[in-house]
Amino acid sequence: MNREDFPMLNQDIIYLDNGATTLKPKMMIDAISDYYSNYGANAHRGDYDISFKVDQAYENTREKVRKFINAKEKEEIIFTSGDTESLNLLVRGFFENIIEPEDEILITQSEHASNVLPWFRLAKKYGCSVNYIPLDDNHYVTMENVKKSITPQTKVIALAEITNVIGDIRPIKEICEFAHKNNIFVVVDAAQSIAHKKTDVQDLDVDFLTFSAHKMCGPTGVGVLYGKRQLMESVEPLNMGGGMNESFDSIQEVILKELPTRLEAGTPNIAGVIGFGASIDYLSKIGMENIQTYEVKLRKYLIDKLLMVPHIDLINIESDSGIVAFNVEGIFSQDVAYYLNKYNICVRAGNHCAKILKKETGVTNTIRVSLYFYNTEEEIDALVELLKDKEKILKEML
Ligand code: ALA
Repeated sequence: MNREDFPMLNQDIIYLDNGATTLKPKMMIDAISDYYSNYGANAHRGDYDISFKVDQAYENTREKVRKFINAKEKEEIIFTSGDTESLNLLVRGFFENIIEPEDEILITQSEHASNVLPWFRLAKKYGCSVNYIPLDDNHYVTMENVKKSITPQTKVIALAEITNVIGDIRPIKEICEFAHKNNIFVVVDAAQSIAHKKTDVQDLDVDFLTFSAHKMCGPTGVGVLYGKRQLMESVEPLNMGGGMNESFDSIQEVILKELPTRLEAGTPNIAGVIGFGASIDYLSKIGMENIQTYEVKLRKYLIDKLLMVPHIDLINIESDSGIVAFNVEGIFSQDVAYYLNKYNICVRAGNHCAKILKKETGVTNTIRVSLYFYNTEEEIDALVELLKDKEKILKEML
């Protein structure tokens, strides 16, 4: 659907790496260009019309994000540089202040680096532990395993809603319900889910949610940290500087502003935030339910085709998102990616930043196809046709 909106698709490429980043619609690119061409002033600082227009556009995006994820208040939305910064801000600005050495953090072995390494650092610094919720035979999180894993020491459960290799959708609502009964915080890394299914933070009752704009048809360098208001009130800024302080004087009396500005020091990525607003408008117009329905259908088409190729080992036949991981028997995943590249097909190969996952699946590297609504059955036919001929791959891969 909507292929004509994406200038990159005017090239002769088949782009199947949407888990890494999505393509950008022209109206999003135009919104950024309009800002730089017509009203490129700073935000929250000027006393002239153009700067008021910037403030309005910047804050409009915050409201659009609030609506998109159904947060209660726009003060619960903080702009960051991306999912990684959101998680680091949360771990350093909030959990560092409340963590005790006896506490436990629960994650899984299929999380990507951003939802692992900040917790590892916290554990190293404060002596708490990071433990793993066991996954089932499909590498899924089940409620049974969540219930079995928590202990009186569990302080926080931090999970991706959809993982970036297995592509499983976690039962976040049930996890939150159970965790909250046990006074456990739930952090949801929505990097791979936010652009692929509807997100309602109030319905899920998550404490914190993080994501990047560039994986949802928006620009790079922008992300969001959402948190419930009463929790966000105690998040400390990672950065001190302009824009976030009310006043300071020579005797080091510093008064900070209220949320959300308090957590957004310095000149923000204004152009990016404005572009992000346009991408939210764009996705909202298509409709998240329509996107998900299309993706699930396309995934099934791809899986059915791959199952007919005897030398393809599928890693995640069962999962229900647009992420499909597999290997060509006996051929290194990156060699297959180079081979596909010769035919202008873009896929990701390797461990996909989920470096502990191999302990779980026994597979170190995979080829990952990650679909989006602008992909087509014809593109999948072209991919599978190239994968069918193993001799050709072996001959042409290097
Ligand atoms: N985490 C991103 C991916 O899965 C970069 O490709």
